[in-house]
Amino acid sequence: MKLLQEAEIKNKKVFLRVDLNVPMERRALPLPINESSQNHEITNFEYKIVDDNRIVAVLPTIKHILSHGGRIIIGAHLGRPEGQNKAEFSLFPVANRLAELLELKVNFVEPAAIYKLNDNLSLLENLRFDPREEANDPEFAEMLAGKTRNESGELGIYVNDAFAVSHRANASVEAITKFLPSYAGLLLQKEIENLSKLRENPEPPFIVVIGGIKVNDKASVITELAQKADKIMLGGGVANTFLKARGDNISSSAYDEEMIGKCKEMLDKYSDKLVLQSDSVREIDEDGSFKILDIGSRTRTEFANAIRGAKTVFWNGSLGYSEDERYQGGMMSVAHAMSEVDGFTVIAGGDTVGFVRSERLGEHISFLSTGGGAALEFLAGEKLPGIEALEK
Ligand code: 3PG
Repeated sequence: MKLLQEAEIKNKKVFLRVDLNVPMERRALPLPINESSQNHEITNFEYKIVDDNRIVAVLPTIKHILSHGGRIIIGAHLGRPEGQNKAEFSLFPVANRLAELLELKVNFVEPAAIYKLNDNLSLLENLRFDPREEANDPEFAEMLAGKTRNESGELGIYVNDAFAVSHRANASVEAITKFLPSYAGLLLQKEIENLSKLRENPEPPFIVVIGGIKVNDKASVITELAQKADKIMLGGGVANTFLKARGDNISSSAYDEEMIGKCKEMLDKYSDKLVLQSDSVREIDEDGSFKILDIGSRTRTEFANAIRGAKTVFWNGSLGYSEDERYQGGMMSVAHAMSEVDGFTVIAGGDTVGFVRSERLGEHISFLSTGGGAALEFLAGEKLPGIEALEK
């Protein structure tokens, strides 16, 4: 894999793919008096970035290219607009935040409309507004690559700094590497380096904490990490399916019926590794049925003690219904315990990283991955198309 540090950048145009898929909050804007008085449906909204971690994480690569005399065309996506131009998925607020962070002008443009981009720094509107992006369409990739042509007609280079979307074979991630000399950006290198430490030789005791909603998305990473970890502590919806598979009464808590067999198999095979909660926070209905909404206090102490004594810790996924502050206790104790570890700690996944950052504990964690699904696939030992393409 060629690294950005080896690239000839001076006077070149660089197509830089980054992952700016940041969490957004939608706020309704008040309508002008005369309109609101007619009781209209509100149609004007403002979109606010909830966590700018993914934007901040790519600043070193942008600064590296600019300081080495390159011009940058940034390509990125936001959400899943399904090939259509939808206002709520516009990268416009991200362009503003990027300009603010860099203290530079960012030229914000539609991908198809522009042939020549001569500004130092441009950000293309959401690439997923065009269905050809997710279809990994070679013509679309060639069109994007063509934007790096300079005044003499020579093509520039491609840099992938979008680890978080490198598990998707998309045109600006995979197909584009066939048209331009391609390099790994600084963030991509950092992600591979840190996550590889967990995959290759984690120093024991190695504790893994896995939560989140869907057990289906986590089964392969649990299986893979069970080969290396001393303990895998489970929480959230993921744990519910394991509890059900073990024969516990989880009443009306959400679980995945189709995964029961797989979870039973894993419980048998890794009985000495998988740790399920011994108590939980529940919401009980009038008819006596209940929902598990968080791990209980005994479990929190058990998880936190194991984490504090570890040399390597990896955490991904909410441990309860964490959208509601009342059910964030489990996450709070895991986050605090991790911040006290004398060893190597990694957290991955938008919600988990966002939570730790909002608690201002981020700087006490060795590495906050920008990857969600990509980090899990990488740790499960799968090949990521975006990274594979750079190795060809
Ligand atoms: C992510 O947020 O995990 C990446 O940006 C990929 O997004 P996707 O799951 O919509 O492809």
